[in-house]
Amino acid sequence: MASITIRNLDDSIKERLRVRAAAHGRSMEEEARIILGDLVEYAPTPVAAKTPIQRGSLSERRILLIIGGGIAAYKCLDLIRRLRERGARVRPVLTKAAEEFVTPLAIGALAADKVFTELFSREDEHDVGHIRLSREADLIVVAPATADLMAKMANGLANDLASAVLMATDKRVLIAPAMNPKMWDHPATRRNRATLAKDGIHFVGPGTGEMAESGESGAGRMAEALEIVTAIETLLDRRPKPLAGKTIVMTSGPTHEPIDPVRYIANRSSGKQGHAIAAALARLGATVRLVSGPVAIPDPESVSVVHVESAREMRDAVEQFLPADAAVMVAAVADWRTANEAGEKIKKKPGETAPALQMVENPDILAGIGHSKLRPRLVVGFAAETQDLLNNARVKLDKKGADWIVANDVSHETGIMGGDRNAVRIVTRTGVEEWPNMSKDEVAERLAARIAAALQTVEV
Ligand code: C5P
Repeated sequence: MASITIRNLDDSIKERLRVRAAAHGRSMEEEARIILGDLVEYAPTPVAAKTPIQRGSLSERRILLIIGGGIAAYKCLDLIRRLRERGARVRPVLTKAAEEFVTPLAIGALAADKVFTELFSREDEHDVGHIRLSREADLIVVAPATADLMAKMANGLANDLASAVLMATDKRVLIAPAMNPKMWDHPATRRNRATLAKDGIHFVGPGTGEMAESGESGAGRMAEALEIVTAIETLLDRRPKPLAGKTIVMTSGPTHEPIDPVRYIANRSSGKQGHAIAAALARLGATVRLVSGPVAIPDPESVSVVHVESAREMRDAVEQFLPADAAVMVAAVADWRTANEAGEKIKKKPGETAPALQMVENPDILAGIGHSKLRPRLVVGFAAETQDLLNNARVKLDKKGADWIVANDVSHETGIMGGDRNAVRIVTRTGVEEWPNMSKDEVAERLAARIAAALQTVEV
């Protein structure tokens, strides 16, 4: 085994080592061992790693995990395990409040690394320091991101190790918020959420459901460990990004057409397929502008979403996003809306016949884009049909000025509308491609890859 003799080091290195060792109250040999240990731990080359290299989707990726003080902190134990299974190196930072929920001992044992807690620790600042902590990572993850931590981040406070690291970093930051639904919905948290999103902070969750406090439920549950892992994998994805630099405008979900202030006409679209496509395009590097009708599913990761209700609002939002390289219109837009939306709730009066709804046609957003002066190079529409699928799709291709129509049979017995699977055919000017029945995520991946290929060629 090789050995290093301090005596043989350059004088200037020896002097710096002596000062550092003295500051830490260690011998020069001990100090050299710690420096080397650190180097080996974080060296990019796998051969030098102290722990055996784990192969996996996050192999050798360095994650600085900031654990905030909330009941959801316990989920970080599982999160660390899942990340390490995938080959990631996890360096934990605990806030003071987090130590009330999980112990540094448990976190350190699972992470197989030192746990950092103090901003003003003489030892830590000399060994690593908050600046190095914030830079020696590929990604910073905050889980749980409490209302307090989010407020600090949004306002640039840096009075403890976690917030100082977040201020000092030049790396991307992913937060997994967790708090009581009232706190999540508080105007202050809403302001902070908007600020953080504008600052480029990535979010995963929160989900909705039962809270730790009995009888409380709503939005605020921290995302599950595996959801956080997926968000991390997406952000650290090293796959090629064929859609980098391309902008794609999308619609997804149903529309709600008002009858009066409390009633509306809707359809059964869940938004699952459109949202999955938006996420798949974003994973390939596209800047995706998604205009979503009212849906009960979360916004897709790394996609900017505008929420609307009616077809007219959807059209206005889509127009704001032109020009774009491609348009993918998946929304089940209502063909008609009521001609005479009542300003007040329509009342039932004894003896009167039921009110008749007068309908007028809605703007066709896809056709508008397909025939627009700002027409994107690639325009993709969907056709949900219950009969004569292919003929209807071919007619739509022309009528709407689309390049492709993704046709699917939404007859009740197919279970496609609202379900998790889909069987589609891609109708283009040159023919029809029939895809096997697969999950909506698989359809999304495949369609995104096809869009990427089309945008790389000169003619689509
Ligand atoms: O005519 P139909 O509703 O079947 O057309 C479906 C396609 O047209 C989908 O891509 C849908 O998003 C789009 N569409 C639209 N605006 C409408 C109606 C449909 O963009 N008003």
